[in-house]
Amino acid sequence: MYSEKVMEHFRNPRNVGEIENADGIGEVGNAQCGDIMKIYLKIENDIIEDVKFKTYGCGSAIASSSMATELIKGKSIKEAVELTNKAVVEALDGLPPVKVHCSVLAEDAIKSALYDYAQKNDIEIEGLENFEPREHEH
Ligand code: FES
Repeated sequence: MYSEKVMEHFRNPRNVGEIENADGIGEVGNAQCGDIMKIYLKIENDIIEDVKFKTYGCGSAIASSSMATELIKGKSIKEAVELTNKAVVEALDGLPPVKVHCSVLAEDAIKSALYDYAQKNDIEIEGLENFEPREHEH
């Protein structure tokens, strides 16, 4: 049911943890399953110098966060904004249809961390003009 890559990232997730004095923090939750994902970004000169995550959620959410952080590390803000959950799923060699929403959490958490960065620095990030940080329910 799960690809080798999903299993591998689930067992051995990359970039777990938090960043002290992060430049941007994003937290999103899925109201239906109750899972929560938090992303920390270190940004210098428009480049994602470092990224860490904490996910309280299912295996697919952990694998998605791990893969998503790998995909944006060292990339520009622009590239990080453009990361879609579809790209995350593809990089994981697929997720079962009922688990695709878990990868959406990763996309949203990254966008919300970038949005936080933009707010803190009073800048606008192209592609996030209409982003509305979603409230999560505890
Ligand atoms: Fe909720 Fe996977 S079941 S994020």
